[in-house]
Amino acid sequence: MSCFLLIIYDILEFAIIKRETINNFGLRKDASMDNLKELIANEVKHRRTFAIISHPDAGKTTLTEKLLLFGGAIRLAGAVKGRKSKKYATSDWMEIEKERGISVTSSAMQFIYQDNKINILDTPGHQDFSEDTYRTLAAADSAVMLLDAAKGVETQTIKLFKTCRMRGIPIFTFINKMDRHGKDPLDLLQELEDVLGIRSCPLNWPIGMGSEFKGIFDRQHNRIELYNKDDSRKFIEVAENGIEDQRIKEIINPDLHQRLSEELLLLDIAGDPYNEEKILQGDLTPVFFGSAISNFGVQSFLEHFLTLAPNPKAQKSNMGLIDPVLNDFSGFIFKIQANMNPAHRDRIAFLRVCSGRFERGMVVNHVRTGKKIKLPQPQQFLAQDRNISEEAFPGDIVGLFDPGIYRIGDTLCEEGNFEFEKIPQFPPEHFARVTNVDTGKYKQFQKGINQLSEEGTIQIYRTFIDRTEDIILGVVGQLQFEVFEHRLMAEYGVKIQLYHLPYQFARWIKSDEPIDLTKLNSMRSLCVKDQEDQLVILFENEFNLRWLKDKNPSVRFDN
Ligand code: G4P
Repeated sequence: MSCFLLIIYDILEFAIIKRETINNFGLRKDASMDNLKELIANEVKHRRTFAIISHPDAGKTTLTEKLLLFGGAIRLAGAVKGRKSKKYATSDWMEIEKERGISVTSSAMQFIYQDNKINILDTPGHQDFSEDTYRTLAAADSAVMLLDAAKGVETQTIKLFKTCRMRGIPIFTFINKMDRHGKDPLDLLQELEDVLGIRSCPLNWPIGMGSEFKGIFDRQHNRIELYNKDDSRKFIEVAENGIEDQRIKEIINPDLHQRLSEELLLLDIAGDPYNEEKILQGDLTPVFFGSAISNFGVQSFLEHFLTLAPNPKAQKSNMGLIDPVLNDFSGFIFKIQANMNPAHRDRIAFLRVCSGRFERGMVVNHVRTGKKIKLPQPQQFLAQDRNISEEAFPGDIVGLFDPGIYRIGDTLCEEGNFEFEKIPQFPPEHFARVTNVDTGKYKQFQKGINQLSEEGTIQIYRTFIDRTEDIILGVVGQLQFEVFEHRLMAEYGVKIQLYHLPYQFARWIKSDEPIDLTKLNSMRSLCVKDQEDQLVILFENEFNLRWLKDKNPSVRFDN
């Protein structure tokens, strides 16, 4: 009898919760949820999710490593990635692929510092992977832009910076390698403005550089942090008379002292004032100086960063803003990586949690397909380790086992059927015909092509006129071809041959009237179908596009 009552009670409770679901995007107003909401609000307050962007060699690996060391997420320096292996030449990129277990865990890492849970997202340094970078930035709430003091703003920095600007996220600048002789710090600020078009506001200022490097003056806390190669922190609090303080004069030689006082005066008079609102809008970048290799200025940077960087905010969806605390669990897939662990041949979809509490084993709506799916073995990434995560909160990155159901941009949510803003796809700019050298491996060839295209790094088209069915690959950067070829061999045992094609861009064909395909053929274009069977034309140049447009006025050529 009591068992019967319990069942009735459970049914009633379920019905009450269901009735209290107030709209179709999962906003509840049940008083009994208050404790959970309080818990989520507290977790959100302590989350920071950011990406580090830099030109190769600026010190991203070194900085990441030092940050992880603070959080105790790794014990040994040098543990993040093999240094020499991650340079941007193709062969080296492939080396990383060989060390997949290491390089891929660094796609998203979490560490804890002073009660804060910090998620670092890794972005590929090479421009050919800019689409991948854009997707990763879609999952970040802010970015740290790392510059080499001797090189300033480099080509890859410019490209990555533009991607951050498109996202409108706050950008923090860390100028690295102050232990070496570099460019004049004032010139570096000017470069930020001239080359990147962003105003800057240094929160600390270097005292000398290279062999003369003495430390940094913290403009906010009015103190000097003395440069120490031995990793210990030593501060001099500046008294009321500022840097005229005798203790400072004893440490810094008269020339350096004079220079420092002139530069600080100049910054006070002519520099951009500190403005939190502008920083959060991405219109002003706070600048920090330091030396990642000697772990100098990194902790101060991290502490400033934690007070300034935004925690997870509401995200746009097709049904309005999704609040991280008020809404039930939701998130989106921003990256898919096949064969993360070659021993298991698994595929992981990376989910950014946007709202509510994510729990292991929960059943959620997969909005694109309209299906309910269970999330049985979610993983979280702690430096080199992958752990099964029992729960996660807004800002966190969770790795989901992907049996082939996810696509980049997919929304998962506990309640409702809203979708987060689409992550734009970059149009391919390079095309090649691909053939399978070993015809006995047809199945593996098809599987490899399909799986790698689902990761979103290549697009696949098929020719269909003249009854031939050639497979054409489209990529954003040339290097992706080489990586594709290498991965098909390494992961699927398939040798392929690539024939580069002269086309430079693709247009999707739409028309309200029946399309006469013969009129869409020309010497300098190719009519193909994409994976959704839509008609696409690959063009060699703009002239050819205009010519076909003139010939087919009723046809639309969409990007
Ligand atoms: P990346 O991930 O951005 O490509 O750069 P990474 O951290 O690998 O650093 C590139 C090189 O710059 C490394 O030297 C690294 O030791 C050095 N480096 C990083 N931060 C600093 C710094 O603050 N000061 C100085 N002087 N050097 C720094 P490498 O010779 O290429 O590698 P390794 O032999 O040190 O491993």
